[in-house]
Amino acid sequence: MSGPRADQPLRRVRLDALAFGGDYNPDQWSEETWHEDIRLMREAGVNMVSLPIFSWPQLEPEPGVYDWAWLDRIIDLLWDAGIAIDLATATATPPSWLLRAHPEMAPWDADGHRLEFGSRQTYCPSSPIWRENVARMARAMAERYGEHPGLAMWHISNEYGDHTSRCWCPESARHFRRWLQERYGDLDGLNEAWGVNVWGQRYTSWEHIETPKRAPGPVNPTKLLDFERFSSDALLELFQIEIDVLREVTPDIAVTTNFMSMFRDLDYWDFAAVEDVVTDDAYPDPADPTSHVGAALNYGLMRALKDGQPWLLLESSASATSWRDVNVPKAPGKIRVESLQAVAHGSDAVMFFQWRQAKYGQEKFHSSMLGHRGERSRSFRETKALGLELQKLEAVRGTRVRSRVGLVVDWDSWWGSSAAESLPSQRLQWAQQARAWHRALYALGQPVDAVRAAGPFDRYDVVVVPNLYIAEQEHADALAAFVERGGHLVVGPFSGVVDATEKVHDGGAPGPLRTLLGIEVDEQWPLADGETEQIAYAGETLTVPSWSEWIEADDDVQVRGTYASGELAGLPAVTCRPVGRGSAWYVSAMIDHDGMLPLFRDVLRTAGLPARDHVDLDVEVVTRADDTTDYTFYLNHGRAPVAVELPGPGFDLLTGARHSDRLDLDRYGVAVLASPRADTIPTATPIPVKEDA
Ligand code: GLA
Repeated sequence: MSGPRADQPLRRVRLDALAFGGDYNPDQWSEETWHEDIRLMREAGVNMVSLPIFSWPQLEPEPGVYDWAWLDRIIDLLWDAGIAIDLATATATPPSWLLRAHPEMAPWDADGHRLEFGSRQTYCPSSPIWRENVARMARAMAERYGEHPGLAMWHISNEYGDHTSRCWCPESARHFRRWLQERYGDLDGLNEAWGVNVWGQRYTSWEHIETPKRAPGPVNPTKLLDFERFSSDALLELFQIEIDVLREVTPDIAVTTNFMSMFRDLDYWDFAAVEDVVTDDAYPDPADPTSHVGAALNYGLMRALKDGQPWLLLESSASATSWRDVNVPKAPGKIRVESLQAVAHGSDAVMFFQWRQAKYGQEKFHSSMLGHRGERSRSFRETKALGLELQKLEAVRGTRVRSRVGLVVDWDSWWGSSAAESLPSQRLQWAQQARAWHRALYALGQPVDAVRAAGPFDRYDVVVVPNLYIAEQEHADALAAFVERGGHLVVGPFSGVVDATEKVHDGGAPGPLRTLLGIEVDEQWPLADGETEQIAYAGETLTVPSWSEWIEADDDVQVRGTYASGELAGLPAVTCRPVGRGSAWYVSAMIDHDGMLPLFRDVLRTAGLPARDHVDLDVEVVTRADDTTDYTFYLNHGRAPVAVELPGPGFDLLTGARHSDRLDLDRYGVAVLASPRADTIPTATPIPVKEDA
């Protein structure tokens, strides 16, 4: 593959403002409506729209016969009104004629059934026909619109893997074999890697290797893991094919594909490395009053994917979605606080799916900026107010989020610990564990960046590894170097268990992390469903809901927490190995949220970072900064007004008001205080009295 690499200069999105707008589907509306759309977009401060994402059939109604007229016209109309275009290559879904002519390009499910036309993403990522046509369409788009002054950036495909992230068809099997040949060289290498002597799995011909379709019993776990890796790579190749074409025809235009937050199926570290700007689609569930906590981790990943540089929130919902079983609307004010939360976490955009609510089709009940009642709809009132308010935040554009805490996000461990069917317990899931640890750090007031398992860790004081099931020596070396430099590391249960081929490390867990942590795991000790155990920790009792481990600690290791019930009573549960000014902690259990608070509070304070005593998940404080100024976002995600004690005075960019020691935030209230850049990251103490709503 050729194309942009992480070490090449990145192209800038051609838009000199925080982006505000949404997906636009003019081909679902009359020209008369277009004029109304543009009038209202201007009124709302829209400066960028994404199109024509799903319009291939409207642009090429028959093979080789193009109809550009409508797209030419709407792009010109938009640009005449000062609205830039996030121009999709229109390859998110194939036209029916292409699929009919080449039924073999349809994806298959794990039972070997071919999936039908009638929705979207009906393609096999490995299909040569699909790849050829995608390259052709991207080239046609680039040649047609590459010189258009309104072209802000390229939007390649759409949410890769949303519907088709894995394909089990014969073409995928051929591609899988090629991928395996590249990885393992020969069949001996593959047989060795997959540990085929278990259950008689030896392969004597490449042709015998199939995609891991449903089998009579549990499938070889390394095969499953490799299929996850391969499937992510297959979509990455597809992405790269379009990037190469666009790079050739329009070398100065930034490229992106929109991500789906922390999405299991694609290794976004790899995807982000080949694009110019990270973009994300975020849909926190309005039915969940703490969905903003999960969003904070998703955004911590988005900014980390390109080394802290700003990313773009390319889709969000103005109110309800339509793809959940129950689609709860967003309460008044929630659109604003959620959107500004993304900006707080490094987004230089607030965009929605979509501009005008559909009248027909699968998404007609999905909210939009302009609801079915048009400009009289609440969503329009609220998004318009937001668009105008965003203009007051221009100073934050390009600034970076300040964070001293990194959380290791590792797709290999995610896949390894979730694809396998034979594990000590299915109750310890990578994502759940990562979210739980992040939630505790969030509760203590720390913004958290995602970080790769091999680092770099230099900008952090604390690095947490909720789970690193698959650990290699390079991970251990990078983490050890971090601790030796004075960093504080916390490693979670079931880490350092296997290598990249899923072979258990000699001597068992934590494998290459053994010296660093100073402990050995004798046995994983998952709890039966419904059972809980306890850990005695610094005078507190922590609850263990589902996972514990029998561990033994070296003499120079401090035992900070001890199992206080069950078969493991009296054995170490939480350990800390001091290393110079740094420390390496091991937490052998899954501990519930309340239990993680005192533990992480100790770690943060040991590292010299503040940690809240009074926890209020509704109050979030995040700082973006340039060399001279801190822009601190104070967000109230709750329905009741709150007050916070400020670390120092600042001017609110949104209201112009000056605040010195106390800030009152209404229901879903937000303030963005500018102040001279401080040595330490500004934090705030929530005042623990909530006034009545
Ligand atoms: C995704 C897709 C959009 C739309 C929205 C609805 O983000 O990219 O096309 O379907 O979901 O929430």
